[in-house]
Amino acid sequence: MEGTNIFWHESRVCREDREQILGQRGVVLWFTGLSGSGKSTLANAVAGQLNAQGRLTYTLDGDNLRQGLNKDLGFSTAERKENIRRTGEVARLLVDAGLIVLAAFISPLRADRAQLRQLLGKDYVEIFVDCDLAVCEARDPKNLYQKARAGEIAEFTGISSPYERPENPELVVHTDQESLAECVSKVLRWLSATSERYVEQG
Ligand code: ADX
Repeated sequence: MEGTNIFWHESRVCREDREQILGQRGVVLWFTGLSGSGKSTLANAVAGQLNAQGRLTYTLDGDNLRQGLNKDLGFSTAERKENIRRTGEVARLLVDAGLIVLAAFISPLRADRAQLRQLLGKDYVEIFVDCDLAVCEARDPKNLYQKARAGEIAEFTGISSPYERPENPELVVHTDQESLAECVSKVLRWLSATSERYVEQG
């Protein structure tokens, strides 16, 4: 960085060294979709399966990070952008550590997701957790849609704030049509079909 008196230090141990120890390739599975679409449920179920296969995973969840690292952020466009930017940087560190990262964030804006893709490059796998708004609203696991309709929550995604559907995700799952087990195996099948990128063979 020119002019800031900050320098980049090369590490003696690199990502490939760590990946070799782990026997896997780092990757970020980024789950995007409406609140109540099933992102966290799916990310957790996939993490459980990968863990059972001896893969090292880490799950980043919007609701959880908003209680710590991102607790200073609300839901304006600028704050959601910062939420996604920060989380993208965390994901970049974890992927550099060699982990399979599962990130579950509404991440409603195309521009913010494009920034993730730019930051993470081939390590970024966008999974659109597609679910009809009416179904999410009927599920309403946290009663948030009800509050949003009553005007008690401002800028609620899908109600008073936009969700821009992904145009070219690597994978789409339809949680209003497919079972959790079907969605999990779809993700795992996608991973193993591209496994030379993510998992050491042999
Ligand atoms: S994001 O839009 O910035 O990606 P994130 O995934 O971190 O959102 O957090 C979404 C979660 O915050 C929702 O699942 C819900 O529990 C809660 N939440 C609270 N207020 C809002 C709101 N106005 N819009 C969307 N989600 C909200």
